Amino acid sequence: MENFVIQGGHELFGEVNISGAKNAAVAILPAALLCDDVVRIENIPNISDVSLIIHILDRMGAGIKMINSNTIEIDSRSVVCQAVPDDLASHFRASYYLVGVMLGRFKSAEVAMPGGCDFGTRPIDLHLKGFRMLGADANIVNGMVCANAEKLVGSSIYMDQVSVGATINVMLAAVLARGLTVIENAAKEPHIVDLANFLNSMGADVRGAGTDVIKIRGVEKLHGCSYSIIPDQIEAGTYMVAAATCGGDVLVKNIIPKHLESISAKLIEAGAEIIEYDDAIRVTRFKELTRCNVKTMPHPGFPTDMQPQMAVLLSLSKGTSILTEGVWDSRFQYVSQLLKMGADIQVDGKIAVIEGVKELTGVKVKATDLRAGAAMIIAGLAARGETIVENVVYVDRGYEDVVEKLSALGADIKRITVNDADTETVQSAG
Ligand code: UD1
Repeated sequence: MENFVIQGGHELFGEVNISGAKNAAVAILPAALLCDDVVRIENIPNISDVSLIIHILDRMGAGIKMINSNTIEIDSRSVVCQAVPDDLASHFRASYYLVGVMLGRFKSAEVAMPGGCDFGTRPIDLHLKGFRMLGADANIVNGMVCANAEKLVGSSIYMDQVSVGATINVMLAAVLARGLTVIENAAKEPHIVDLANFLNSMGADVRGAGTDVIKIRGVEKLHGCSYSIIPDQIEAGTYMVAAATCGGDVLVKNIIPKHLESISAKLIEAGAEIIEYDDAIRVTRFKELTRCNVKTMPHPGFPTDMQPQMAVLLSLSKGTSILTEGVWDSRFQYVSQLLKMGADIQVDGKIAVIEGVKELTGVKVKATDLRAGAAMIIAGLAARGETIVENVVYVDRGYEDVVEKLSALGADIKRITVNDADTETVQSAG
């Protein structure tokens, strides 16, 4: 098992380069299988979720060539219609994009039910509804998501709830359907736009991505292309919140500031200074943090994937803040860990009432999921004394080189391996 060991209490200074977007990569990499050709994808983040999807593509018969750690060539000419193995698909959420991809390309898909972070119930009814509206027979059978169609025909699909995954899955299947598909009440996240741009680079006809109506005119065939993935909005937001929480002066580089507006606005409200450049944001914070209320919502609202990190900042902000989860049923599991560090948080359903405290104290805490793990790191960086964060495997799912990037900002963080005999070996020093 690996842990992070953090000596807290240091302000952060310097520059950090943001990697490619995880949630775009996990949609775009499988989407490469929609063509019968070679696709080159740049700026893929070097994280475990991406390694897993590359492994799945390899098992599906795709030719995989890593040009370097952030660039891949995927040759989909040898991919055949087959079930996506349970041992891989059930490990993470985005495996369900292979349903849309295989249905689009082969008119038949069989993928094990997806895993992913536990935020309460994570239904896929809207995905199935979308596939059915395109003419497929789509059901969950013995733990497998199965979808089959003689032909896919474009249709008008209203999403009862804004869903990133269902919007993406319908886009993936509809690009090769016959005629026009209209997705209404579509999700508008930056990675939806990125996927649309990628599909269009392969010859698809997708319009309106980034608005709540997406129109897809099906084409006969897609072709290979070269594409670069957008920067990760959530990784960028995490470093911005880390800088604001710890104090200091950090330039977050290689980003799209527009994607970060909701986060910047809240950090300014809490007392940080934000300067936007074309592809960077500078976060400085030297004065005391003050309370503010935050509610998570689909894009362009405040992202739910920044909610745990923001809870740490609000825990150290003077006054009482209300943090409301507006996307998931249950996303406050990590609060018990912050309480161990001295935070004052009361959770009632989807609302957390956070009373700012003077300081947090380092103890042993667990990453309960990916973004909760990021929150524990920020808490550890800001806390007095030593924090040990367990279950770092969650953090590795979504943050490339987190120890190296934070160390370059002056943080004292190390990754250690804890073996059965409880002896510890330093793997990568801060
Ligand atoms: C994606 C992100 C995840 C993020 C979430 C919301 C990926 C791989 N994951 O997850 O990090 O937290 O968006 O920004 O991109 N819903 C239904 N029926 C469905 C699908 C969803 O009711 O068929 C509900 C969910 O329970 C949830 C809401 O819709 O309450 C939003 O979920 P969705 O946007 O689909 O999240 P994911 O795509 O799974």
